[in-house]
Amino acid sequence: MKKTTAKAPSNIAFIKYWGKADPKLRLPLSSSISMNLSNIYTITTVEFSKDLKEDKVEMDGGMIRQEEMTRVTKHLDRVRILAGIKLKARVKTKNNFPKGTGVASSASGFAALSLAASRAAGIKLSKRKLSVLARLGSGSACRSIPDGLVEWQKGIDSNSSYSYSLYPPKYWSLVDIVVMVDTKEKKVSSTEGHELAKESPFFTARVNGLRQKLKAIKKTMKNKNFEKFGEILEEETLNMHAVMMTSIPPLLYWQGKTIEIMQAIRNWRQEGLKSYFTIDAGPTVHIICLKKDVSSVKRKLAQISGIKMLIVNQMAKGAHFLNKHLF
Ligand code: DP6
Repeated sequence: MKKTTAKAPSNIAFIKYWGKADPKLRLPLSSSISMNLSNIYTITTVEFSKDLKEDKVEMDGGMIRQEEMTRVTKHLDRVRILAGIKLKARVKTKNNFPKGTGVASSASGFAALSLAASRAAGIKLSKRKLSVLARLGSGSACRSIPDGLVEWQKGIDSNSSYSYSLYPPKYWSLVDIVVMVDTKEKKVSSTEGHELAKESPFFTARVNGLRQKLKAIKKTMKNKNFEKFGEILEEETLNMHAVMMTSIPPLLYWQGKTIEIMQAIRNWRQEGLKSYFTIDAGPTVHIICLKKDVSSVKRKLAQISGIKMLIVNQMAKGAHFLNKHLF
């Protein structure tokens, strides 16, 4: 069997996925929209071999935790079923960022694994089928398969819940400056968080408003209306975090620095610097601006103490093969 390597970007959600209709199939309760990130990614090499008695998975130079191992093995099982093989696999994977920081590492991880493992198992899946496969590993991973600006249509069953590209990477010069304020792993994973979403009294109101919001953000993307687009980003972030904060038990992913940076961004806007925040399930702030404003935002950030790391991302293509293998 052929050793195969794939690279997949992480993505940042503009309209977010929070709450599942079916946790096992990872079917979302609402559609979402995201952008693939050029500088946060996973590279994964997979080889199925008759010499292996069990799956062997190595991540970032070490063995992985039992629960992660189970999740990866289950994913390999899905691939084995699709390919009609029983062979075990060797998997080596490398992330270029720290895990569990609100930078969705499961997205790039399961997107890269889906592409590398399916081809290594001898099957060639369409982008749509790859997206469905990646979704079964981690919901947001289905958005890391297509290129650029991506929509995940919630669908009504497993086959109809997948992502496709709305615009290619070159379409718009959007930049995501990822501002890490803490590199420790978060305490409540997004998988656990999704389960709590429905407990919030605000959840239904959120879902009811999403159709309109999806329509509105798509219009701003079509017209490249950056200001209106940015306003929707912030409104959506605060809306999702309001649901998080009001679930039972409540989730509070922000830290003091997170809020300090959110406030700073709003002050910069008063001075004419057009940048907006969006935040996933962690304390990390994603600053969305246009390419021409990156140096101004970086200059502003230099005045804030306690920032652990900055990663500047342009829009990227989705999962693709690499010729160089990790083993
Ligand atoms: C807040 O895709 O990480 O980042 O499907 O359980 O793996 P699982 O969850 P995951 O959830 C992502 C949640 C989010 C919003 C988003 O990316 O849309």
